[in-house]
Amino acid sequence: MGSPKVREYFKKKYLEMVERGETWELLRLMGPTGPRAIVEGREMIVLASNNYLNLANDPRIKRAAIEAIEKYGWGAGSDWSIAGYTDLQEELHRKIAEFKKTEAGLAFQTGYGVNAGTIPKIVGKGDIVLSDELNHGSIIDGIRLSRADKIIYKHCDVSDLEDKLRKVHGKYNNILIVTDGVFSMDGDIAPMDKIQKLADEFGAMTYVDDAHGEGVLGEGRGIGVHFGLEDKIDFQMGTFSKALGSFGGMLAGDREVIDYVRNTARTWLLSAAYPPSVTAANIKALEIVMSEPERVRRLWDNTKYFKKELESLGFNTGKSQTPIIPVIVGDTKKVKELARMLFDEGIFVLPIVYPMVPRGTERIRNQVNADHTREDLDKALNAYERAGKKLGII
Ligand SMILES: Cc1ncc(COP(=O)(O)O)c(C=O)c1O
Repeated sequence: MGSPKVREYFKKKYLEMVERGETWELLRLMGPTGPRAIVEGREMIVLASNNYLNLANDPRIKRAAIEAIEKYGWGAGSDWSIAGYTDLQEELHRKIAEFKKTEAGLAFQTGYGVNAGTIPKIVGKGDIVLSDELNHGSIIDGIRLSRADKIIYKHCDVSDLEDKLRKVHGKYNNILIVTDGVFSMDGDIAPMDKIQKLADEFGAMTYVDDAHGEGVLGEGRGIGVHFGLEDKIDFQMGTFSKALGSFGGMLAGDREVIDYVRNTARTWLLSAAYPPSVTAANIKALEIVMSEPERVRRLWDNTKYFKKELESLGFNTGKSQTPIIPVIVGDTKKVKELARMLFDEGIFVLPIVYPMVPRGTERIRNQVNADHTREDLDKALNAYERAGKKLGII
C-alpha cells in the first residue's frame, strides 16, 4: 500500500479528468481485429482501427511468426545493441530500405521510440526545429527532449513556414523541419514537395512521420515515394503498427544517417529487442505490401466511396484526403452520443474530443479498411444517416 496522501492526490486528479470527459473507456476485442471484429461479445463493423490493409490477422504473417518462434525461440534475450541482434533482424533492415527505396533502414521497438529517440540526437542546443502545429505527440516529446529551440508553424501552411525559415536562417547551427506525412486526426497530407523545396532553399534537414502514410500513399510505400522524394527527405520515420498490421517502428534514410542514429538514439540502444517472431512478421508484412498493390487499390476504392457518401448525406469530413475520414461534429456531448448510437447499431467508432483535437472540432475518426465490403460501408452509412438526423447534425 502506498501513502494515503498520494492516493488521495491522484484520485482527485483522476476524478477531475472524468468530470471533463477526458478519460478513455476501454472496449474489449474478443478475437482478431479486421474489417469486422467481436467487440464486447458482439460482431461489429470496425471503423476505428489502423489496420488499413487488413494484415493484422493475415495467415502468411502468422505463419512467419510461428516459424520464427520455432527457429529462434520466443524472447530476444537482450537489446539489439548488445546480444539480441539476429540475421533475421539484419534482413528486416534491408527490407525496410527496399520498401522505402532508401539506402538504409533500421527497425525500432516502436514508432513512438523512433521519434522520441531520434529527434533529440539529430538536433540539440544551438539548433532549431520547425514543427507543424498538428504533429503527433511522439514528435512533440522528441523535440522536448532535444534542448533545441522550437517554432510551431501553421498546419500545412508553407508560406508561414517560409516566413519562419527566413527569420531563423543564419542564426542557428542546424534547422530541422518536422511534419507528420498524413495527419492522424484529419487525414490530410503534408505538402512534402513544397516543404522539401523550402528545406533545400534554406539548407534545412527534413523529417517526416509516415505512420499513416505507409500502406496508403505511394503504392503503399509511403509519402517519400508518393512525392518522388525518397532520396531527398533526410529522415523517414514509420511504423509497423498501422497498415502493416504488425508491431514496431522504423527509420529509413542514407547509410550515414542510419549508422549515426543506431549509435546514439537511446530508445534504440537502451531498450530490449522485440521477439524474433515480430521481426519475421514485419518482413512478411513488407513483402505482402510490395507484392500486392491491389490491396492498396481496394483501400482507396473504399475510401473514395465512403467519403463521397458521407458528404452527400451532409456530414463535414474536414480536409480528409486519405482513409482517415473524420466526421466533425464540434460538440463533445453530441459526438459521444453519435458514437454511442452507432455502436448500438453495430458500428465500432470512437469519439475524439479535447484535448486530442481542439475544442469545437470534436469528431468521430473513421478509418476505412481495404476489406470492408460495400455492404459493410452501406450499413455504416445507413446508421450514420439515422443517428445524424436524430441528433440534428445533418
Ligand atoms: C503519427 C504517429 N506517429 C507515431 C505513432 C507511434 O507509432 P507506434 O504505435 O509504432 O508507437 C503513431 C501511433 O499512434 C502515430 O499516429
